Amino acid sequence: MIKNLDKSKLPKHVAIIMDGNGRWAKLRGLPRVFGHREGAKTVEKTIRFARNVGIKHLSLFAFSTENWGRPKDEVNAIFGLLVDYINSKIDELKELGVRLRFMGRIEELPDYIKESVKKGEEETSSGKDMDLIVALNYSGKAEIIDAVKKAVLEGRNINSEEDFRNLLYLPDLPDVDLLIRTSGEIRISNFMLWQIAYSELYFTEVLWPDFNEREFTKALLDYQYRERRFGKI
Ligand code: IPE
Ligand code: IPE
Ligand code: MG
Repeated sequence: MIKNLDKSKLPKHVAIIMDGNGRWAKLRGLPRVFGHREGAKTVEKTIRFARNVGIKHLSLFAFSTENWGRPKDEVNAIFGLLVDYINSKIDELKELGVRLRFMGRIEELPDYIKESVKKGEEETSSGKDMDLIVALNYSGKAEIIDAVKKAVLEGRNINSEEDFRNLLYLPDLPDVDLLIRTSGEIRISNFMLWQIAYSELYFTEVLWPDFNEREFTKALLDYQYRERRFGKI
């Protein structure tokens, strides 16, 4: 299936709402955290695949500002997996030429996470093959509020889309071409509201731990047959 991919029609920026870890575990009679652990393995494979296929920016929704409403144990388990992932995969990301970046209200997170985030960003900063953006303590509305606050605080004028983009967490990040959501939910859940204004949307029933190269390829092939008109004819 991969060989059917037309490299000239690849999305440059793919964003993924990785959903369904809890249900994956529940189906197996396991605690939710097992689903998150399995989901972390999918993250690793997805990054490698995206980079090898030639995606330039991959954005992953890891933890939303709304996810604080979950039980404390689950929140801690998610952060634990994330920090383990960053700490253990830095060398691998460097070898792959992947630059790790974060977006969200990172400053609100506990010190051990902030340190890990900083280290991950610094050590992979020379990666040229793919940007990996991890949305952490992130929501699209919070990003817009933070942009407006920054504009007011710094007395910046907003006369164009470009002016506003420059106030976002990662101003150089291009708009999302393809947004994928797993687990059958047909909603955006406050992800990247500004950047998905003209994205192609792809929803699959597959739960995040079961998402694989084949499923990713299906989404990319689907994208290649979309006609992006941007209001024109
Ligand atoms: C996505 O899986 C992971 C995070 C939100 C961190 P969920 O934990 O939301 O899984 P479901 O939706 O309950 O199955
Ligand atoms: C969205 O999934 C957030 C992440 C994938 C991190 P949720 O499971 O939190 O979304 P809702 O609550 O079903 O909309
Ligand atoms: Mg969910």
